[in-house]
Amino acid sequence: MKTVFDKPFTQQEPIDEATIARVSGILRSGRLHRYNTIEDEIAEAALLEKDYADWQGSKYCLACSSGGYALHVALRAAGLQPGDKVLANAYTLAPVPGAIHNAGGVPVFVEIDGNWHIDTNDLRAKAEASGARFLMLSHMRGHIADMDAVCAICEEFGISLIEDCAHTMGAKWKGNRSGNFGRVAAFSAQTYKHINSGEGGLLTTDDPELAARAIMMSGSYMLYQSHGAAPAADVFAGVRLETPNFSGRMDNVRAAILRGQMAGLEENVRRWNLRYQALERVVRKSPDIDVPRRAQHEEFVGSSFQFRPRLAGSEPFEDLMQNCASRGVDIKWFGADQPRAFTSRYDSWRYLGDLPTLPNTLEILATTCDIRVPLTFSEKDCEMVATIIVEEVAGLSG
Ligand SMILES: Cc1ncc(COP(=O)(O)O)c(C=O)c1O
Repeated sequence: MKTVFDKPFTQQEPIDEATIARVSGILRSGRLHRYNTIEDEIAEAALLEKDYADWQGSKYCLACSSGGYALHVALRAAGLQPGDKVLANAYTLAPVPGAIHNAGGVPVFVEIDGNWHIDTNDLRAKAEASGARFLMLSHMRGHIADMDAVCAICEEFGISLIEDCAHTMGAKWKGNRSGNFGRVAAFSAQTYKHINSGEGGLLTTDDPELAARAIMMSGSYMLYQSHGAAPAADVFAGVRLETPNFSGRMDNVRAAILRGQMAGLEENVRRWNLRYQALERVVRKSPDIDVPRRAQHEEFVGSSFQFRPRLAGSEPFEDLMQNCASRGVDIKWFGADQPRAFTSRYDSWRYLGDLPTLPNTLEILATTCDIRVPLTFSEKDCEMVATIIVEEVAGLSG
């Protein structure tokens, strides 16, 4: 009898009691909107901005409605004009091209390499050929590219780097937190991310004017001075009447849920990595599966695990997903030509018009599998999941 894993891959840990009490207090007060304060009360959303800016080591922070919203506003606040080109690694998820499109930009997709990083040779070539002034870099599934090379290319071509840190909150590269390499960064607090309020986003930057524009865009009206990590009032003088309001505010309930998780974030990074290591230990033993080594100076957060079974063609991958699913293991495959659940490949975003053929990216994604690593799994659970994957790949490798 084959073992079957019986825990859901979609289950988060509960919200702690102190946070529930804090949220209850806010609910009882009725003051859920971030600008609905009395006397010298500081809204929870503003407190979150201060806490997050301090933790991230950034001067400014904006709490907003989602990571995708933060990405969109980051582009606009960085000066994107309708029709401007935006370089983007082709291995990412649908909210990223969606944010570029929403901001009026035109994505220029860049190849990835076998470690799931942006291919810096292709980035250089496309930066030169396209004349793009923006790069939206997704640290997709937590894989951080050679940031020295990426930043050097941005510098050479005068490109503004916007980091999509939806999967790298808490990760570092050469000791610097992801999100602190570019002009502006966006983080997600959607339910499967490193802090979870169901939905939510954070934007960080050290650029005062960009921060002021982003705050105005988020829907601050003329209440921008009540923000928790905002530039001085005089910075707003030049932007407050020139900047549209795109209404994407964070509310106090979600801010309280996130603040409650900030204190445990470092510890959760450690716990994710223990689970990742348990998976990796087992999967690496398989002669039928490749797990590219991570760069030595990449301190990643192992909240998901990617691997590449040595199988050819789509049929064995479909079988692998089905066989693993029948044993309780939920694998996502980036090679499918049709989008499924949260997973899609760049060539499925047809609303963008003519999409380029990126042979290296397609080849790598054709064998890229992905699983979530929820903190509700123990290390033993992760070993069991990995063993099921290894057995099922072996069964198909014949
Ligand atoms: C790579 C990536 N970027 C951006 C986002 C957008 O985040 P949100 O769902 O908070 O809009 C996601 C969400 O899953 C994502 O996976």
